[in-house]
Parts: sequence; C-alpha cells; structure tokens
Amino acid sequence: MALFRGLLDIFASEANKVDGRTGMTEKQKRLVQNTWAIVRKDEVSSGVAIMLALFTEYPEYQKQFKLFKDVPFDELPKNKRFQAHSANVVSALSSVIHQIHDPALMEATLLSLADRHKARGQTEEQFQNLKKVMANLFPSVLGRQYTPEVQEAWRKMLDLLFSTLCRVYKN
Ligand code: HEM
Repeated sequence: MALFRGLLDIFASEANKVDGRTGMTEKQKRLVQNTWAIVRKDEVSSGVAIMLALFTEYPEYQKQFKLFKDVPFDELPKNKRFQAHSANVVSALSSVIHQIHDPALMEATLLSLADRHKARGQTEEQFQNLKKVMANLFPSVLGRQYTPEVQEAWRKMLDLLFSTLCRVYKN
C-alpha cells in the first residue's frame, strides 16, 4: 500500500511540474486537450459560435471577410462560406493544441498563421479581442466541465497562444 501511495505521489508530482517552455503543467495540458475535444467534435457549430460571438462584439470585423462581408448577420449561421471559414478556424486551433507537446513546432505554426493575418491587415488588437471573446465563451460551451482547474489551464493556454500570435506585431 505504501509503495502504491508512493507511486501515486510520484505521478502526481510529475503531472504538476511546470514545463518551462509553455508555463503549463502536464495536467493543465491534458485538461486543455480533453476539453478542446468537446469543441472539436463539431468544428462547424463551434467555429460558428466563436465567429458569431466575435461579430456580435465587433460587427465591423465582418467587413474584412471578402467571402461573406455582405451577408446579413442573421443569415451567417447557414451560409456555407461562413461555415467553412469557421470550421477552418477550429481546425487550425486543433492543430496547434495538438502540438502542445512540441512547443517549438507550435510556435512555428502560430507565427506563420499570424504572419498571414498581419499581411492581410488584421491587427494585434483584433487578436486580443478574439482572445477575450473565446475566454468568455468557454463557461457556456464546457458547462459543468468548466471547473476552476480547467479555467486556469485555459487561461494559461490562451495567454500562450495569443502572446505568440501577437509577437509578429512586435517587430
Ligand atoms: C486564434 C486566432 C485565429 C485563427 C486560428 C484563425 C484562423 C484562420 C484561418 C485558418 C484562415 C484561413 C487562411 C489562413 O490560414 O490565413 C483565416 C483567414 C482569415 N482570418 Fe483568421 N484566425 C484567427 C484570428 C483572426 C482574427 C482576430 C481576425 C480579425 C478579424 C481574422 C480574420 C481573418 C480574415 C479576414 C481571413 C481571410 C478570410 C478569407 O478571405 O478567406 N482572423 N483565419
């Protein structure tokens, strides 16, 4: 029994050790991946929820999307171009979240995504606003799974994602 307890303690302390490259513990990475699995299950609905929340807070952003800039807000959820874009956003985030165990690869993916956005005219402020919108969506999307531990894990993950994305605006 003592040996069993000892092993459990070792596993627990490994899971709670902070990875200096990401600022996250193994447990927090696992919580992020497990809860993102809920979001990823339906890329279209989840992506649409994120994009609609973004356009609700910042209606002027819709003008930047040439494929659906003139579609009335109420018609966006059924618009296939909007759905396709929304699913792409979730899919891009899924790739990055999947790469969390290889932080250098994750960083390279994020920087190239941000470079493409910067070249098209998206701003750092827009990224920061999307971060807020996403953080506000998690409680309703995750429901009872949104425990204080999950909240803290996502706070760290969003900080990591968006601080990396925004690095392209610093130079
Ligand atoms: C987590 C952050 C974001 C992710 C994962 C993401 C993902 C994507 C992806 C996968 C594309 C397809 C083309 C490409 O890869 O460049 C795209 C295009 C685009 N994104 Fe983002 N995006 C993010 C943030 C933003 C923000 C904050 C804006 C500002 C409003 C934005 C505006 C656009 C626009 C205008 C396009 C071009 C759409 C088109 O003409 O087809 N994105 N995004």
